[in-house]
Amino acid sequence: MKVILFMSMSVNGIIAREDGSEDFLSDENWKVFCKLAKQMGCFVIGRKTYETVMRLYKNYNFDDVKAKKIVVSTSSNFSPAGYTVAKSPKDAIKKAKNVGFKQILLTGGSRLNSSFLKENLVDEIILNIEPAILGKGIKLFAEDAFERRLSLIKTTKLKSGIVQLHYKVKKVK
Ligand SMILES: NC(=O)c1ccc[n+]([C@@H]2O[C@H](COP(=O)([O-])OP(=O)(O)OC[C@H]3O[C@@H](n4cnc5c(N)ncnc54)[C@H](OP(=O)(O)O)[C@@H]3O)[C@@H](O)[C@H]2O)c1
Repeated sequence: MKVILFMSMSVNGIIAREDGSEDFLSDENWKVFCKLAKQMGCFVIGRKTYETVMRLYKNYNFDDVKAKKIVVSTSSNFSPAGYTVAKSPKDAIKKAKNVGFKQILLTGGSRLNSSFLKENLVDEIILNIEPAILGKGIKLFAEDAFERRLSLIKTTKLKSGIVQLHYKVKKVK
């Protein structure tokens, strides 16, 4: 299974304000996400991302994205309609594999990103860097004990001044 992490963030690595809002990110980021999710056919998010986005963006959220939707949560009473719930990053991969997917788009949040990376499950990372700096907020990766080396595949400049960086993650043994 190939796992590609896609995230949009400020220049200093902030993916959302402390209240979860993402108003500093251009619409183009959402369009890029929807296109990638459709191309890959399946995306995976953390339970907090699901709940935050559904709460803040009622008419503009994951429900309408044309792809299989997996939410990772350990909670036994969490079962949103239209979404598959996985108990762990490995379970998310297994559930996608069981229905025929060979690749998935992982797209946050901070804690789930760290969980996947720490378990060595991320193959590539695509980062949309918004031309903004926020002194406070939620980071791309929640703090944890891990370290990875990357190799740069491609850089692209998008319309809204976003710089897209595409990396391959060097696997650790
Ligand atoms: N800018 C962007 O591109 C972007 C993209 C996505 C999200 N975001 C933002 O990110 C924020 C949320 O990030 P977050 O770090 O607070 O939460 P998160 O990573 O979305 O969700 C955390 C939850 O996911 C589940 N989870 C994570 N790792 C797990 C593991 N190893 N095994 C089982 N379950 C696991 C747990 O759910 P349970 O507690 O239910 O067990 C955990 O509480 C939101 O504000 C959202 O807006 C930004």
